[in-house]
Amino acid sequence: MKILVLAGGLSHERDVSLSSGSLAANALMARGHSVALVDLYLGIESERDLFFDGKSGKKYSHEVTRGEPDLAKIKEENGGREAQIGPNVIEACMGSDLVFMALHGGIGENGQIQAVFDCYGIKYTGSGYVGALLAMDKDLAKQIMKHNGIPTADWRMVVAGAADGKSLTDELGLPLVVKPCRNGSSIGVSMADDLAGLNAAISTASRYETRLLVERKITGREFSVGILDGMPLPVIEIKPKRGFYNYENKYQAGASEEICPAELSGRLTDELRGWALKTHQALKLGSYSRIDFMLDEDNRPFCLEANTLPGLTPTSLLPREAAAAGISFEDLCDRIAKMGFSRED
Ligand SMILES: Nc1ncnc2c1ncn2[C@@H]1O[C@H](COP(=O)(O)OP(=O)(O)O)[C@@H](O)[C@H]1O
Ligand SMILES: [Mg+2]
Repeated sequence: MKILVLAGGLSHERDVSLSSGSLAANALMARGHSVALVDLYLGIESERDLFFDGKSGKKYSHEVTRGEPDLAKIKEENGGREAQIGPNVIEACMGSDLVFMALHGGIGENGQIQAVFDCYGIKYTGSGYVGALLAMDKDLAKQIMKHNGIPTADWRMVVAGAADGKSLTDELGLPLVVKPCRNGSSIGVSMADDLAGLNAAISTASRYETRLLVERKITGREFSVGILDGMPLPVIEIKPKRGFYNYENKYQAGASEEICPAELSGRLTDELRGWALKTHQALKLGSYSRIDFMLDEDNRPFCLEANTLPGLTPTSLLPREAAAAGISFEDLCDRIAKMGFSRED
């Protein structure tokens, strides 16, 4: 297949996306596909020499730096261009058999690109625009979880600048977690143990978005469960060495310990996998996803969120879960590509 791997873009997860995209592109070349890695925002100058196959010796790579990318600088280097879809990207996608979605965050994960592709008849991997939209909006996703009996921590929505910390702590108690409604990679997420901490956390999250979630903090263990082709993968436990699973602990090698399969009883394993599948279905997700959970100190599960385009970086969870199920990284990418090619929705 002629596959265009789409990555980059102008979201805060740009760097992570370029890392995922590079590895996916290399894996797809190794599986015999003809592959191009394209940055959604930068676009393409010329379609010449865009695609490479396994025999070309081409290897993509991109390292995730410790801090988030400087999006203002990237824009400035491109003449301040506001358009998020760069030159010739749609044309190149139309000229490919399939677009492999390695975009995290922003228009790549919230359903907007998926809707554009549907309009143009472009085939792509992962979830369709409805699932992407529902999962990306953490408030909508949690409302759907609640409606379906899927346990999730209590939360309130606030608008940055108009949040009343005192009434939030009166209603929800402490400690709390504050997060932007539609971000990922823990960007803008922080914890609060008291009222001053809550105000600081709200101010941090409001750098990214005006709609914020204030959620009860669950103290306990953290897990994630991938879904591939309608089946839950082995559960993975995440143990950051310091603090919670923030941006640095997600992408700096060795910052967190991941244990897969997680050391859990058969009952708890089945429970998490069951909730993961139910969440995947309730949010109308596609060929794969990854659902995040906490287990509190009484082993009660709480679903945090669903990821429609989970990371494929060297430290990412889904590839590790797939490996524990005997699926190599190359096979995982190849299967995701094939499911994208044959999707009917
Ligand atoms: N309610 C919560 N209780 C405890 N920790 C949380 C809670 N919500 C989020 N976290 C921590 O913050 C991280 C990021 O939150 P998450 O909701 O998964 O958003 P993101 O889309 O940024 O991954 C989680 O991996 C977890 O470590
Ligand atoms: Mg998460």
